Amino acid sequence: MQMQKFKSDELALDFLRVAEAAAIESARTMGKGDKEYSDHVAVEAMRKVMDSVPMRGRIVIGEGERDEAPMLFIGEELGGRDYDESVRDTFPEIDIAVDPLEGTNLCALGAANAIAVLAAAERGGLLNAPDIYMDKIVVGPSCKGSVDIDAPPGENLKAIAKSLRRDVDDLTVIVLDRPRHSDLIRSVREAGSRVRLISDGDLSAGISAAVAGTNIHALMGIGGAPEGVLTAAAMKCLNGEIQAKLVYDPERLGVDRDKVPPKEEVMERLKSMGITDPEKIYSTDDLAPGKRIIFAASGVTDGALLKGVRFFGEGNRTNSVVMTTDSRNIRFVDTVHVGGGPNAVIRF
Ligand code: FBP
Repeated sequence: MQMQKFKSDELALDFLRVAEAAAIESARTMGKGDKEYSDHVAVEAMRKVMDSVPMRGRIVIGEGERDEAPMLFIGEELGGRDYDESVRDTFPEIDIAVDPLEGTNLCALGAANAIAVLAAAERGGLLNAPDIYMDKIVVGPSCKGSVDIDAPPGENLKAIAKSLRRDVDDLTVIVLDRPRHSDLIRSVREAGSRVRLISDGDLSAGISAAVAGTNIHALMGIGGAPEGVLTAAAMKCLNGEIQAKLVYDPERLGVDRDKVPPKEEVMERLKSMGITDPEKIYSTDDLAPGKRIIFAASGVTDGALLKGVRFFGEGNRTNSVVMTTDSRNIRFVDTVHVGGGPNAVIRF
């Protein structure tokens, strides 16, 4: 039998199921104040459903290395669990980036914008980025090509304002509320733009920046590199742009030298992952070079883009977005998961 050609649209609903499962389980733990537990149940649920997807999947962005993460570790192969080997061998080879619970603190506190998220692409379609920090600037389709991550924030804001045909004062920029961003926040304020500081979750914030009508015009600042790859996958589907640079210098991170691994250690790790230029500016295509990308996210807690999971006596209801580069469809999916017996009442 021949290996099937991978069409992102065909697997989109499978990955939607995966995101929904992780969202439901973590949402059950919302507000319980235990972020590790919330993350754990999301990982477990995501892995279980993902293993049923008809694919030969490989995790490229996951929960860490095999020795530190029992599930969804980088390099873990999964998929096609319920099929014979001869059938499984025909399934497409797919690389997957996961963040089963983006915003573990948000979920633990019952705060807005926690999501369960994953992206998939053909082999080699998502950068195997190290789990270190990454400086990012994310903008929507109208501003594509107008920003430069190395330029001062004020210049980027002028360019964004020009592309959006408005004043710099009319822009809102999302920044993670961290001491390392004090200069950035000052520069954005001095330029005249408004700032929305968030406690966590720069991935869903990046998506908001790429969607018109959210009143967010850019995301700037340093967050996780894995989230950067997932953001890039979303940008490929939303026509937005991310520019990014890895950050490992303790001074830029505003932390003591002993709080981060020594530079030589980071360089060795980057080299082992095939990254030879640590100063490289990554474009959307560098981070997510795939031609056939699927991005799926489900709300865990209520957020700007997605509602959180709602539970009722005989089931629950999830709100998700699933998008693919093949069909260019962006589907907002509202699913009622009926949990009760044959007489369960379906609510709308
Ligand atoms: P978790 O879901 O892993 O807790 O990450 C949340 C997050 O806020 C990301 O959105 C962001 O990229 C990263 O943490 C920032 O890291 P830090 O909290 O160390 O500044």
